[in-house]
Amino acid sequence: MTQAISLEAVGLELGGRHIVHDLTVTLEAHRIAVIGANGSGKSTLLRLLDGLVPPTTGTISVHGIDPAYEARRLHRHVGFIFTNPDAQIVMPTAREDLAFSLRGVRDENGRRLDRAVIAERVDTWLAAHGLADHADSSAHTLSGGQKQLLAIGAVLIREPGLVLADEPTTMLDLPNARLVGDLLIDELTQPVVIATHDLELAARCDVAVRFAHGTISRVGDPAELIAEYRAEFA
Ligand SMILES: Nc1ncnc2c1ncn2[C@@H]1O[C@H](COP(=O)(O)OP(=O)(O)OP(=O)(O)O)[C@@H](O)[C@H]1O
Ligand SMILES: [Mg+2]
Repeated sequence: MTQAISLEAVGLELGGRHIVHDLTVTLEAHRIAVIGANGSGKSTLLRLLDGLVPPTTGTISVHGIDPAYEARRLHRHVGFIFTNPDAQIVMPTAREDLAFSLRGVRDENGRRLDRAVIAERVDTWLAAHGLADHADSSAHTLSGGQKQLLAIGAVLIREPGLVLADEPTTMLDLPNARLVGDLLIDELTQPVVIATHDLELAARCDVAVRFAHGTISRVGDPAELIAEYRAEFA
């Protein structure tokens, strides 16, 4: 399976308004940051890649999958992390939430994972991420950072082939933002696309995509693009 994400002349029009236009890019880097002003089109790009909205014009390929036509295949392959973990945590406790996430996962023989395998994977994840002591407490009693770790865990534990994250550190303090960065940048072995205003996080990626006014204005080295972005508002 190709590891490229490519868009060819992609546009999205909603209610007669151009939301994004002329998106043409091929991205093969492992960690991709998407930066740019509020309303510039970052979340829309992730929604297009996740098939949540079909493009009005142009074509998209996500690791060889067309999100507009192959929704099932795409959803087995892609994991989406939202800004607000409350929107993502569905079960009463951390242990149940991670186990729930693994329920639909199949092994290499196409069989569902059995309960013992699920329980072991969940325990391992909780222990590795400092959540073992909170495994059985109500998820709503977790701190914001712990909730975001759990929400990210529920996506990563399924081992998706590509992770899309929309502002994953926005609601976090500096130590928790760094922790989530460590998870998405250092620990994750699969490719990730992160839309973010957290320029420290963006700087840790391999490539940055700059959005402005509904289109891609630059693609390149994160340090360079961040310096340009800062200079524009100095
Ligand atoms: N469903 C929709 N209907 C109408 N307009 C929309 C819709 N979704 C997004 N938009 C508009 O499209 C533009 C791009 O929005 P988008 O959410 O992609 O921006 P963003 O770069 O993620 O911004 P932010 O940094 O604030 O998250 C905005 O002007 C927004 O108001
Ligand atoms: Mg956004």
